[in-house]
Amino acid sequence: MFNILNYSVKSIMDKIREEGITSIFKRTFHRIKKLFNLIILIHRIKKLKPNLNLNFLLNFLYLESKGMLIPFQNRYEILKLLKIVKKIKPKFILEIGTAKGATLFLFSRIAAEDAVIISVDLPGGNFGKGYPKWKIPLFKSFTFPKQKINLIRANSHAIETLNRVKSVLKSNRLDFLFIDGDHSYEGIKKDFEMYSPLIDDNGIVSLHDIADSPIESKIFVSKFWNEIKEDYSYTEIIEDKNQKGAGIGILKRKI
Ligand SMILES: C[S@@+](CC[C@H](N)C(=O)[O-])C[C@H]1O[C@@H](n2cnc3c(N)ncnc32)[C@H](O)[C@@H]1O
Repeated sequence: MFNILNYSVKSIMDKIREEGITSIFKRTFHRIKKLFNLIILIHRIKKLKPNLNLNFLLNFLYLESKGMLIPFQNRYEILKLLKIVKKIKPKFILEIGTAKGATLFLFSRIAAEDAVIISVDLPGGNFGKGYPKWKIPLFKSFTFPKQKINLIRANSHAIETLNRVKSVLKSNRLDFLFIDGDHSYEGIKKDFEMYSPLIDDNGIVSLHDIADSPIESKIFVSKFWNEIKEDYSYTEIIEDKNQKGAGIGILKRKI
């Protein structure tokens, strides 16, 4: 017992010597503040009513989430997508690429009241870095009482991940698939080829970042998008034809 106590005191003293008391104090204060903001945000989300106006929801994320739920999206474009998807009241939803969780939040708000929502995101993944474990309670707070949320923290390209998605869906098919994960050409292609077969005949597949990207960027969604879009009934949501980056593509089966 004495040895353990002695060891703990020594470790604390070593840390203080290494980092300095001010830096440790600042870090602890920052963590407490983050935890406090998280608890407040979860509380506020739980109090939000169903069927709120989409602009209200976006304002909530941009202005009142203390930066914790800022979408990686162009506001005009995500608003248009939400209006379209809301009309089909999707029951089975899969999002590949969740990052801060903003789009996951928005999709849960426009989904059916008994929706099954699945998120696949790779911790530390490219194009956004995923999310830390401490955000799991926040993401779980997004659902209404009859909705279910499944957070799969794994590589979407792994066959085990596809199998995990299938086992959540059981024999059901996806009404809405949002692909916003690996934006490399091979990455987007693989996500599309692995997960779009899970879509229901009347379902919607949506790809983010279909607009031409800046030359130096590593985003190649537009190349893949232009190869496949003509095979489907498609819609492009791009705020400004001259913009570089962003843009949302929507695909439905041709009738
Ligand atoms: C652009 S962010 C998603 C943004 C989010 N949809 C939004 O609009 O707020 C891309 C996310 O994809 C994840 N990602 C990258 N490669 C992945 C992969 N192979 N499997 C799963 N997730 C991946 C990253 O970890 C990152 O969090």
